[in-house]
Amino acid sequence: MGDLKFDYSFNKGLIAKEDIENIKDKVLECKRLLVNHECVGNEFTGWVDLPVNYDKTEFNRIKKNAEYIRNNCDAFIVIGIGGSVLGARSAIEFLGHTFHNLMPEEKRSIPQIFFAGYNISQIYLTHLLEAIEGKDICINIVSKSGTTLESAITFRILREYMEKKYGKSEAAKRIFATTDKKKGALKKLADEEGYETFVVPDDIGGRYSVLSAVGMLPIAVSGADIDKIMEGAAYMRERCLKNDYETNDAVMYATIRNIIHSKKKYIEIMANYEPCFHYINEWWKQLFSESEGKNHKGLFTASFDFTTDLHSQGQYIQDGPRVMFETVLMLENVPDEVVMKHSDNDIEGLNYLDGKTLDYINKKAMEGTRNAHLEAGVPNLLISVGGRNEKSLGEMYYFFMFACALSGLILGINPFDQPGVESYKRNMFTLLERPGYVDK
Ligand code: PA5
Repeated sequence: MGDLKFDYSFNKGLIAKEDIENIKDKVLECKRLLVNHECVGNEFTGWVDLPVNYDKTEFNRIKKNAEYIRNNCDAFIVIGIGGSVLGARSAIEFLGHTFHNLMPEEKRSIPQIFFAGYNISQIYLTHLLEAIEGKDICINIVSKSGTTLESAITFRILREYMEKKYGKSEAAKRIFATTDKKKGALKKLADEEGYETFVVPDDIGGRYSVLSAVGMLPIAVSGADIDKIMEGAAYMRERCLKNDYETNDAVMYATIRNIIHSKKKYIEIMANYEPCFHYINEWWKQLFSESEGKNHKGLFTASFDFTTDLHSQGQYIQDGPRVMFETVLMLENVPDEVVMKHSDNDIEGLNYLDGKTLDYINKKAMEGTRNAHLEAGVPNLLISVGGRNEKSLGEMYYFFMFACALSGLILGINPFDQPGVESYKRNMFTLLERPGYVDK
């Protein structure tokens, strides 16, 4: 099962054949520059070939260490922020049990998995320390720079906790660092303390790193088959690179979102109808916003869990300013069939649903919502994902990274840097009086 599909055919009258034809040469030139690593920011295009050109020795080491982690702890904590953690989290939530951490131990073959280092909250960290009390712990700290404040603070506190609990040498066997190959504070610390380390490749930025050790180690700990994720990504890479224009789904997604943007839509909302997509949406949001929001350009991205958010922001989508379009992420094949059964008294008046699966009802909710939003002038795009499995996941990651990079190039920005993120850091470090940042 796999085979992601992109469909924009619902938007009759909004996207004309000429719109697609007019931009074709520009799109194909941007694609050529991207796949040949000749585009702006080309020093960060290592992810383009990663699915067919990854370090197999490190990949095997990831599997071996993932097994060690699974066998040696009750709680596994992944520390990181932004692109350093969202990929892993999105995979684990997409493939795993919705209530994984709450399942009784005998029903779980893997440790509980927690995420940290993506805020500076005392409450969050205090509660995390309470939640892991008495448990055996392993940690994966993920930071390319090794200096990101949120993850560095969290790591220092958890490292001290581990060293107190286990002693320095046993703690070192339980700490796994994913960082730059040669430089940075984390690399230095890991070498000094003897932590097992994994590499964030030089030519891959955080938000394009899910298929490197950044995503693969935590995902492997969760029990997922990382070979199959790479197979799915390699399959999608082939489709992205080989197919030309209108038959190329990632190219079309990048093209259509730029066309819609040119028609004065400034916000793309990514909606899903399955909670397992929630963190895929979070990953997507960061990927596209951090890549495209530059030089006062770019679509603003927002994510929604439907039908939940139809009872929250649905009113705004239906009747608010006409500034957005919607992309729906749909799961084609949904397992765990639940069927509505006949009730003799039918007080709730639900017998008209007799024999229908929840997935059937959910998909009708999706179609009905799409029709309502189209009627209200909200263009709708559909991305259907084959199934809740590793191959589909690998396809999805590659599809979005390729489409995002291409979309940014069409827009005329560098999709691989993030200069704007430095501003809050400069201001924060000035206030914290960090040496080198204090205003003189
Ligand atoms: O996508 C990105 O590049 C960022 O979101 C980074 O991943 C994030 O800022 C964390 O950086 P680092 O891995 O250096 O701690």
